Amino acid sequence: MNVLLTGGMGYIGSHTAVVLLQSGHRLVLYDNLSNSTYKVVEKLTQITGLHTPFINGDVRNTQLLTEALATHHIDAVIHFAGLKAVGESVEKPVDYYANNVQGAISLLEAMQSVDIKTLVFSSSATVYGEPQYLPLDENHPTRAINPYGRCKLHIEEMLGDVAESAPDWRIACLRYFNPVGAHESGLIGENPDGVPNNLMPYIAQVAAGKRAELSVFGADYPTADGTGVRDYIHVMDLAEGHAATLRFLSQSPGLHAINLGTGQGYSVLEMVRAFEKASGCHVPYRIVARRAGDVSAVYANPHKASECLSWRALRSLDDMCASTWRFQRSERSGMTL
Ligand code: NAD
Ligand code: UD1
Repeated sequence: MNVLLTGGMGYIGSHTAVVLLQSGHRLVLYDNLSNSTYKVVEKLTQITGLHTPFINGDVRNTQLLTEALATHHIDAVIHFAGLKAVGESVEKPVDYYANNVQGAISLLEAMQSVDIKTLVFSSSATVYGEPQYLPLDENHPTRAINPYGRCKLHIEEMLGDVAESAPDWRIACLRYFNPVGAHESGLIGENPDGVPNNLMPYIAQVAAGKRAELSVFGADYPTADGTGVRDYIHVMDLAEGHAATLRFLSQSPGLHAINLGTGQGYSVLEMVRAFEKASGCHVPYRIVARRAGDVSAVYANPHKASECLSWRALRSLDDMCASTWRFQRSERSGMTL
């Protein structure tokens, strides 16, 4: 298949590109590099031995996007492009709606104008809001609690209307849980600018000595050790989930919302211990107050993904930590992005 990846230079997009290239798909990466660098293309060539065309463009540039879809005879689009920091979305909601919702509209206009009707959208478990029960299945009510989450929900709703408008649309909203880890080569991974918002990159930087200690946001949750529990999923498992979704959509018109998670939750302190084991480094931490907006536990019911996609996450927590550490070390030695 010829597949265009919006946001294909980013963390999840680049790992998905590796899997898709290695499965024989032809790709075009379309990204405005607002949260990535051109070097990703070189790393992808180093990993796969294949050259992938890259277009430096914004998804809101409907004309450029339409030309890209037509010129490369694209069959399907995976839409990763978007801003993703929850805190920033509270401070700059207009930027988030403009980039994420307007970006999705522009993409749909471009796809419609060249009659491409297969789309995979990067959604998030954040659409479920505070869990009413666990594990979260796809029928759990949705309720976003911040502008980032509301963008995801608006887009999912829009995609529902689009799928209703013609029977030949094939759309999957993949609700990712907590992606972590890196490609086994250590060449690509998650490389946040400034202070990391998310747990795993923060732990990695503490282990590497770049930051003094981890702040554990609350140890008074109703969980086994009092710290927050999440469903961490290896980014290469997540990437393979996208390849499985393209296969599934080729047989399955309509709109499909599917969780991509492992079904297994780990606490913050379990993550710290796992990372210490994988890295051989001490990770000092201090318990501080809860972070506003956090919930105690979130994990997926991965049954629908296994039924529909014949896919499940295979990699262990050790793999997640070891690959993160490999990337962290190669980054510090200047090998990576
Ligand atoms: P990322 O920031 O690493 O990648 C996103 C890419 O999109 C970047 O390369 C960025 O330059 C590009 N981009 C942003 N706005 C663009 C625009 N207007 N036009 C063109 N390119 C643009 O993020 P990621 O972690 O790879 O996330 C990918 C998608 O998955 C996002 O939509 C995100 O909301 C979603 N998601 C991520 C997580 C996570 O924890 N990483 C969890 C759930 C959902
Ligand atoms: C975050 C996003 C969510 C997104 C998800 C997927 C927020 C509020 N939510 O969720 O929208 O879908 O990522 O990647 O940003 N923690 C610490 N110390 C830290 C960082 C985190 O103790 O320095 C704890 C948190 O309280 C939480 C767990 O670690 O219990 C995971 O946090 P994080 O990695 O930020 O992910 P989420 O909060 O699940």
